[in-house]
Amino acid sequence: MCDTIALIGPMCAGKSSTARLLATRLGMAHVELDRLRWDYYQEIGYDEQMATLLRSSEPGLLERSNYWKPFEAYAVERAVQDFPGCVLDFGAGNGVYEDAALFARVQQALATVAHVILLLPTPDLAEATAVVNTRLAQLLQEVAGTVNPEALRLNAHFVNHPSSRQLATQIIYTGEQTPEQVCETIVQNLGLNASAKPGEPLTQLDRHYTDPRLVDLYDIENPHGPDFDFFLQLADELHAQQILDLGCGTGLLTRQLAVDGRKVTGVDPAAAMLAYARRQPGAEQVTWVEGNSSALGTPNADLVLMTSNVAQVFLDDEQWATTLGHIHAALRPGGHLAFESRNPADRGWEQWNPATTLTQLETPHGPVETWLEVVGVENARVQFRGYNLFKKTGEVLVVTSTLRYRSYAEISNSLSKAGFIIEQVYGNWQREPFNNSSRMMVFIARRSGGST
Ligand SMILES: C[S@@+](CC[C@H](N)C(=O)[O-])C[C@H]1O[C@@H](n2cnc3c(N)ncnc32)[C@H](O)[C@@H]1O
Repeated sequence: MCDTIALIGPMCAGKSSTARLLATRLGMAHVELDRLRWDYYQEIGYDEQMATLLRSSEPGLLERSNYWKPFEAYAVERAVQDFPGCVLDFGAGNGVYEDAALFARVQQALATVAHVILLLPTPDLAEATAVVNTRLAQLLQEVAGTVNPEALRLNAHFVNHPSSRQLATQIIYTGEQTPEQVCETIVQNLGLNASAKPGEPLTQLDRHYTDPRLVDLYDIENPHGPDFDFFLQLADELHAQQILDLGCGTGLLTRQLAVDGRKVTGVDPAAAMLAYARRQPGAEQVTWVEGNSSALGTPNADLVLMTSNVAQVFLDDEQWATTLGHIHAALRPGGHLAFESRNPADRGWEQWNPATTLTQLETPHGPVETWLEVVGVENARVQFRGYNLFKKTGEVLVVTSTLRYRSYAEISNSLSKAGFIIEQVYGNWQREPFNNSSRMMVFIARRSGGST
């Protein structure tokens, strides 16, 4: 599993300039498949003479282009394997396959890529063809002194063929935007925290938390449940006066905590989630802060919460340890940290498939159908895709997410290392003790020192 970003699309869609900017912006390597492909092609018997013959300016280039398809599919498979964590800048042909078997191979290879972004000038395919082909004709005129109409016909095919739209996890319609603006749109859409300072790790956010349409679905899909009752009761029992809700999201619970003169702060790196939270009734009772745990400060809080499995968004152990360190520093001695995390031994993700997860929602955007599918399970990380079909427009927003599953022992050890004493671990919201077959682990830990 990797956080590779792949850009696909027809010729002259702006892939290379956007990929270059994106790589610089995110501190990732930029890999151009057009440069690498010859080495890959050679590995499976590419015949240059045959290719030259086929490339002639006679009519029928589109039909003859099938010769390249097995090589293009193979190059995608190899590049994805060889360059994890890079910005992959694919050639126009790499996203278009007539042959079902080749398409299936490429689809499988790209399933391990977190973000497959299709660049098109506009959703109207005739208009999109006109835009890219005007640019292509200009380029061919400049470079070759002539415009081969066959190249334009091939590019029209690239725009209109459905396979690139099926491979994409996200389509960016570039419109009048400059490559710099397209790059920024991608950074925002992928939730790559734009406010991170150079050298500081970027907080990578799911599109669920960054796309305002998906943010509007969050409370509908995750309404008040027994988990919120549990945390509200806990806050009462602990007589917590100052509470920090890390990863507060839309703030449904945060606002309910902010009663009886309590000082409550909701912290979240997703600007769109906070914007939604700020618009809700009672929002003025809460202090909202955009940021990750480093924004918690040292306010001597009584209680820090991470609810709805926020603990699982911290994919690597260093990030998790840093977060626990920040929480420790934010609590007063004797203050509490409470959160839940799904139990890996329960293997709950095995039930996440389109049939079992299909849900119909009534939303401000009309009826929406949602479902999940697991992409892969590796190194205690589960990667899955969430599909959101907006029935009014037929648009499907696909979100790739990864969750880290830490075991009871791993969480316990990390808490001890960070200076916490574990007071309770429950296996459900009814406060039954955790055992290995519990669905979840609800940890209540105390910062060492001081009185409870
Ligand atoms: C599943 S939602 C939980 C929201 C809320 N706590 C609730 O109970 O509904 C996960 C939240 O974690 C936030 N998040 C993602 N990465 C984070 C990070 N590094 N630090 C803090 N919060 C993060 C997301 O923006 C999102 O709002």
